[in-house]
Amino acid sequence: MKVAVASDHAGFCQKAAIIQAAEGLGATVEDLGPVTDERVDYPDYAARVANAVSAGEVDLGILICGTGLGMAMTADKFPGVRATAVTRPDFAHLAREHNDANIICLSGRFVEPEKNAEIVKEFLTTKFAGGRHAVRVEKMMGNCVADPDALEKIADASRFSLITHPLVQHKMAILRDTNTGTKQFRELIRELALFEGYEATRDFPLEEIEVETPLEKTKAAQIAGKKVAIVPILRAGLGMVDGLLELLPSARVGHIGMFRDPKTKEPQPYYCKLPSDIENRTVLLVDPMLATGGSANAAIDYLREAGVKDVRLLVIDAAPEGVNAVLEHDPTVRVFATSLDRQLNDNAYILPGLGDAGDRIFGTL
Ligand code: PRP
Ligand code: URA
Repeated sequence: MKVAVASDHAGFCQKAAIIQAAEGLGATVEDLGPVTDERVDYPDYAARVANAVSAGEVDLGILICGTGLGMAMTADKFPGVRATAVTRPDFAHLAREHNDANIICLSGRFVEPEKNAEIVKEFLTTKFAGGRHAVRVEKMMGNCVADPDALEKIADASRFSLITHPLVQHKMAILRDTNTGTKQFRELIRELALFEGYEATRDFPLEEIEVETPLEKTKAAQIAGKKVAIVPILRAGLGMVDGLLELLPSARVGHIGMFRDPKTKEPQPYYCKLPSDIENRTVLLVDPMLATGGSANAAIDYLREAGVKDVRLLVIDAAPEGVNAVLEHDPTVRVFATSLDRQLNDNAYILPGLGDAGDRIFGTL
């Protein structure tokens, strides 16, 4: 686990001990300053940690000022950050378990170092509980969840990301409509894949480079040599490839062919061709539909057997049954979806769903 830590002059006296406590729990700590106890403005250092958490460069952040209050107010302004001032270990536990807090702000002046070490322990060792709390966290973040009951059924919310952006929800509404024709359906799948790729690559590491604008030299950031493969599950997954290649033009593309037996609902593999260096690549496994999870799990098995370490499953429409089956089957896969629906019907089709994705993409209805 990667953790960023910073303080102001009032929290500086406890920073080293807090870093030591975090490292003692197995965390890799990035000290974002300051390096002395000279007077500084707390928003400047809160912003360093909040930026790192917001950009996905670290998993969690710890800030220390006089009370923890000003740093919490500052950090909370950053996208995706849930920061809170904590002066008790049980509050740190609940801030993680119920509120999915990703930054805690400690008091260097009013809380003893031993107590702060206990707070850090609770913060770093407690998992977000998901379920009803996931629904509340989405509301807290101002996200509109179309089906809160479905979200509540997800067993491990820490590895599931539902993309709730208004444009995504708008496009999903058109996609679902039975009157939407093949051409528009295919375009929407491509666009939704592009939006989803944006979220699924949020934590890709950056490195600093120098570029020359028409006016002067400046520092800029580029992706730090991340190698990616896009692997569609045939056939419907093909509809998502072009959108992702627009984002990641030098990604390699593998293919896994699989269809669901209409009677047993079991996946029937028929083809697998992966890039030769797949084990060194982050794999975006793509399929518009995650119903029982059978097809996705069989595809994940192929990737794991080929030595892939980082698998991210990107789907357009998911049923809670399928998400849970995948999260249970594989301990580290992360699942991204642009929609989470109510349930499966007796035929293992997603309700309300959008029908048969492959048939709608390729016009074979
Ligand atoms: C669909 C879909 C998934 C699978 C989902 O494919 O594209 O691959 O079903 O169901 P599951 O989660 O229960 O396994 P289908 O078998 O219809 O094949 P196609 O892509 O060739 O249309
Ligand atoms: N496959 C689809 O294409 N749609 C579903 O609803 C389930 C599986």
